[in-house]
Amino acid sequence: MFNQLLTIALAASLALGDPIKKVDKCGTRISPEEKAAAEARFQANAVTSLTNKATIDVYWHVIYAGDALEEGNITDSQIADQIAVLNHDYGPTGLSFNHVNTSRTLNADWFNSASPDTGEERDMKTALRVGGVADINVYSVGFTDEYGLLGYSVFPDSYESDPIEDGLVIFYASLPGGSMLGYNGGQTFTHELGHWLGLYHTFEGGCGSPGDYVDDTPPEDSPSTGCPRSRDTCGDKIADPIHNYMDYGTDACMTEWTPGQIARIFSQIATYRGI
Ligand SMILES: *[C@@H]1O[C@H](CO)[C@@H](O)[C@H](O)[C@H]1NC(C)=O
Ligand SMILES: *[C@@H]1O[C@H](CO)[C@@H](O)[C@H](O)[C@H]1NC(C)=O
Ligand SMILES: [Zn+2]
Repeated sequence: MFNQLLTIALAASLALGDPIKKVDKCGTRISPEEKAAAEARFQANAVTSLTNKATIDVYWHVIYAGDALEEGNITDSQIADQIAVLNHDYGPTGLSFNHVNTSRTLNADWFNSASPDTGEERDMKTALRVGGVADINVYSVGFTDEYGLLGYSVFPDSYESDPIEDGLVIFYASLPGGSMLGYNGGQTFTHELGHWLGLYHTFEGGCGSPGDYVDDTPPEDSPSTGCPRSRDTCGDKIADPIHNYMDYGTDACMTEWTPGQIARIFSQIATYRGI
């Protein structure tokens, strides 16, 4: 009896991947040197004629390893729910999202192994990417070889040198109603899209200026986890932005953009995506 219960508990924790502790929320990385160079280019080239409202098309690529939901074959209604979450979360910014198309590709190699800088990622994007610089391509995959990773994206300024790489890759179980407990509200896509629109993590660059190159996000030394009541990693008596979409909270914890982030988004997409 006890053994049986233990087996069930173990199987359950394996199946859920011990979600909160092992989660590697975001694989979007930039070194301090790359960031400084990107910012210098941005300052030099920033377009000044900006919009404050836009609708962006979304092309969804479902990669799956088999028919079952656990093999990544997410439903059309989960995709529709995810687009609704984006429109909700980005409502305050003036951006909205229009789902144009879904492709479904049975490919276990891509499902398991597409992750930052793998050959499978490159093959997947080369085969499937559609649209232009202003279109979102999102690939939902299993990250089996990088278990715990929720998603990653590229920044807008890299489109020019490598258009194929442009887009977001997200864990299929992070969609609304997915199995990634704590991270199944759809905010993985919201967060990765923030990168695609030109935002860094709120903790990028730590406590010192210029940090994330947004003036009104409070300084933060390291990513938050879960949803702490409050946090002050820079010891400056200014609370860390734990509710910001670009920090590392659980989905329910993430509810905010700052005006500075919204301004940066429109400046980045005018400069690099022609929006
Ligand atoms: C995958 O999901 C779609 C949409 O829910 C469904 O039509 C299809 O039968 C499923 N299986 C395969 C192999 O595509
Ligand atoms: C939409 O997806 C289908 C199915 O993969 C594909 O054949 C078609 O070319 C796509 N259309 C556009 C506009 O991307
Ligand atoms: Zn991130």
